Amino acid sequence: MKIVLLGYMASGKSSIGKELSKHLKMNFIDLDDYIIEKEKETITEIFNQKGEIYFRNIENKYLKEILSKQDDFILSLGGGTPCYANNMELINEKATISIYLQGNVSTVVERLISEKAKRPIIASLNDDKIPEFVAKHLFERRFYYEQAKIIIKIDAKTKTEIVNELALLLD
Ligand code: S3P
Repeated sequence: MKIVLLGYMASGKSSIGKELSKHLKMNFIDLDDYIIEKEKETITEIFNQKGEIYFRNIENKYLKEILSKQDDFILSLGGGTPCYANNMELINEKATISIYLQGNVSTVVERLISEKAKRPIIASLNDDKIPEFVAKHLFERRFYYEQAKIIIKIDAKTKTEIVNELALLLD
């Protein structure tokens, strides 16, 4: 089984993926961490030194590399992964299941403001500009996110509740 978790920045893809992998005793891969390991640079360094286009190219390359693995895994994507190249098509072709962790603008904005520094896409924005940016950005990206096979709402739910909901669903 190849499970892919997707959704906007700060929707909990990595932490839920990690927790779910313990629950299901499956291998866990975080695409951003995989990129950091392979490139030996942080995501911020890649964005700042080589630019977003370079990042989107290697993101596509490593996504393909992971999806072609024979063994089972839970893969957490970066927030933008489904929205570039033919990534969403590839995901739905190669993965057993794709799951969109869907949060409202207010849910992700609150989390993003406190974790802004490690996210190059929003790092230079003033806090008061973030809600409008996220609202527009989510509007553009939902077309891709909604191609996921399953949509799970995350608003007002704890990590444990979401993991249990997913575990039940995948049983
Ligand atoms: C991005 C999200 C990030 C990371 C990169 C770009 C995006 O991942 O891949 O900074 O375009 O939304 P997270 O969703 O894990 O923050």
